[in-house]
Amino acid sequence: MRKTNTLKSYKSKSLIGIINIPGDKSISQRAVIFASLCFGLTKIFGLLKSKDVLSTVNALKNLGVKVKFKSDICEISGTGGTFKKPKKPLDLGNSGTGVRLLIGMLSSKNIETTFEGDKSLSKRPMLRVIKPLEKFGAKFKSNKGKLPLKILKSDYLTPCIVDEKIGSAQVKSALILSALNLNGTTIINEVVPSRDHTENLLKYLGADIKIRKKKLEKKIIVNGPQTLNRKKIKICGDFSSASFLIVAAMVCKNSKIVLKNVGINYFRIGLLEVLKKMNGKFKILKKWTENGEKVADLEIKSSNLKGIKVSGDISTRLIDEYPILFVAASFAKGTTEFINLKELRYKESDRLSAMSEALEKSGVKLKQEKDSIKIFGSRKQNGGVKIKTYNDHRVAMSMLVFGLASDEPIKVDDISMIKTSFPNFAELLKKIGAKVKYVQK
Ligand code: S3P
Repeated sequence: MRKTNTLKSYKSKSLIGIINIPGDKSISQRAVIFASLCFGLTKIFGLLKSKDVLSTVNALKNLGVKVKFKSDICEISGTGGTFKKPKKPLDLGNSGTGVRLLIGMLSSKNIETTFEGDKSLSKRPMLRVIKPLEKFGAKFKSNKGKLPLKILKSDYLTPCIVDEKIGSAQVKSALILSALNLNGTTIINEVVPSRDHTENLLKYLGADIKIRKKKLEKKIIVNGPQTLNRKKIKICGDFSSASFLIVAAMVCKNSKIVLKNVGINYFRIGLLEVLKKMNGKFKILKKWTENGEKVADLEIKSSNLKGIKVSGDISTRLIDEYPILFVAASFAKGTTEFINLKELRYKESDRLSAMSEALEKSGVKLKQEKDSIKIFGSRKQNGGVKIKTYNDHRVAMSMLVFGLASDEPIKVDDISMIKTSFPNFAELLKKIGAKVKYVQK
């Protein structure tokens, strides 16, 4: 039995090796949900078996969908979108994507369903999906715009034109999923662009979804009702998980790693663009496409990073990578300035505060404001502290990477939530030679 239950990371040199990055969480979530809308058996290869994805799978099982795991293959027997009323509330645990996409999907199915989640998910805003879905005629009862939330019976939902102004792929996907079951044409005006995995996978599965682009704005036109055509789905590696290893290799001396099979969707790789400007050394070795998604093998080397001004326009393209980018900025020479960070406060934790607190405690000089931060980087950082992660997987993993380059080790208060996105994080770090140890809390 393992007596130890948290992780500590120590100064490391020469991270070397080849790593297969585990499946993309966003695409895995969509794959299982969309497969449930197909008729018959869909085989999903390389599904991420993390806690978040398994919460969504469980919710689908409670809706009458049959799911089987056979080694690396997940088999979903889709019901063509006919679900049974669940006997108990659907518990989505920590998963914002799971809960928001399923709210969207079930909002137009006229099935009374209650959603709940863990402490962190119960604090996150649901009005962003409730309000636009109400425009279709969906009815909800919520706890002041938060979970628990109940979808109420409503017979007549009608399509209309809705705007998505937050830049949230979760909101956009909830609207698209609801629209798939509406009678007629729904137009979603995407004012602030966000990751387009939903559009890509739906097109791959033969959905009637049209995209009209005008400068930055995008119109998504969905004709409903429709079912999807089942097809084999292959999930690429998660760029967000890869980002911890990318920054680890850059900040640890004499490192060279290769990350295989990583998704490089344009809306996900803002981190690479920023790191390039910071003098980060990386190469794309090979590129291909997998069910509508661009995939690549990447090579990363130790880098002498320099501070830069990060443009606010890129924020939706690196939203989940800010915590690890703050770590890169801490070890860069000079100041890195980040703006337009409002959305960071609505993640699994208030990531702007949580990361500022963690970095300051570790000796980093920074200035946090309402929705911006300046990090005054230095090649030499102290570390030597225990970090409060606020139950946030990305805060925990980012700070453990910090400990690989700081003078003294970093210990985090908890690691259980790392399972929500990257169950073998510590094992993969160890595989490339990083010094991380399981220790008592
Ligand atoms: C996700 C979208 C992003 C991201 C989250 C996953 C998705 O959230 O932060 O981790 O799978 O659609 P928002 O859409 O709320 O920005």
